[in-house]
Amino acid sequence: MNILLLGKTGQVGFELHRTLAPLGAINAPSRETLDLMSEESVANYLASAKPNLIVNAAAWTAVDAAEDHQASAERLNAGLPAQLADYAAANSVRLVHYSSDYVYPGDGEQAWQETSATSPLSVYGSTKLQGDRSIEQSGADYLIFRTSWVYSARGNNFMKTMLRLAKSKAELNIVADQVGAPTPARLIAQITTLAIHSQLAKGLYHLAPRGEVSWHGFAQEIFRLAQENGEQLAMGPENAYPIPTSDYPTPATRPLNSRMNVNKLEQTLSIRLPDWQSQLAVTLDEYLEIK
Ligand SMILES: NC(=O)c1ccc[n+]([C@@H]2O[C@H](COP(=O)([O-])OP(=O)(O)OC[C@H]3O[C@@H](n4cnc5c(N)ncnc54)[C@H](OP(=O)(O)O)[C@@H]3O)[C@@H](O)[C@H]2O)c1
Repeated sequence: MNILLLGKTGQVGFELHRTLAPLGAINAPSRETLDLMSEESVANYLASAKPNLIVNAAAWTAVDAAEDHQASAERLNAGLPAQLADYAAANSVRLVHYSSDYVYPGDGEQAWQETSATSPLSVYGSTKLQGDRSIEQSGADYLIFRTSWVYSARGNNFMKTMLRLAKSKAELNIVADQVGAPTPARLIAQITTLAIHSQLAKGLYHLAPRGEVSWHGFAQEIFRLAQENGEQLAMGPENAYPIPTSDYPTPATRPLNSRMNVNKLEQTLSIRLPDWQSQLAVTLDEYLEIK
């Protein structure tokens, strides 16, 4: 299999580069080789690489910056997936893509289903939704994994920011009314690989660990586990104070309810997804090893 992997330097792309390796030859151009902002460069690259599987882990993921850079976010999150889907449809190639909990309106406390109505609150969320819709309407053979709160031992993410801040701050105020499931990039890559290998039926699937937590609860567990692993922090879980989103204004509005029901993926793949706590332990271990 000739696999084209986009976004190999990102959190998910880095992990995919490793997990996809047994499935075939991976062609993973860096930004220097292929600027995904250019539709023409992407078209030329596809024509010469002739992939028979495309895995797109590239995106505009700077949620707040997207509010002021709508055209760039649209190109990467909506135009690029549409272009890849058109190529995939025309060439009978499977396209694997990633979407976000930010496509949902964020109200209520029920977990979203894949069939739930979408209503993004931000430019980032709207552009991701446009990308999903283009893929669904393209006629391509696709898998879209809609995931949430991605973090990893590498890259910029909440876990690493919290650990950095906890080394110098005596206390932190952390948002406690946004609830979801923090998802390690490695879990996404492992499940993606399993899905490709087992020829998971075309469609949209939620992909996140089981369980739910607020950012505040997630931070407390990060501090607790880090201290248990011997990390020297200037504060512990007891010095993390819960605040409402309204006390932490950001340019882009975040959904309060990011709970996603993962039954469809579990049932179709005959697996049980792990809980977020065990996934944090594994990811934190890896971070402490490589830092
Ligand atoms: N992060 C989250 O919390 C989250 C939550 C839900 C869903 N998702 C979705 O999950 C997927 C993976 O996210 P992630 O967190 O792994 O993303 P990430 O770490 O921000 O990585 C994004 C990747 O896209 C590449 N890229 C961006 N602009 C490019 C350009 N113009 N040309 C070439 N490459 C470009 C980046 O390359 P450089 O390294 O060169 O910049 C990087 O490899 C995305 O679809 C995202 O929307 C993420």
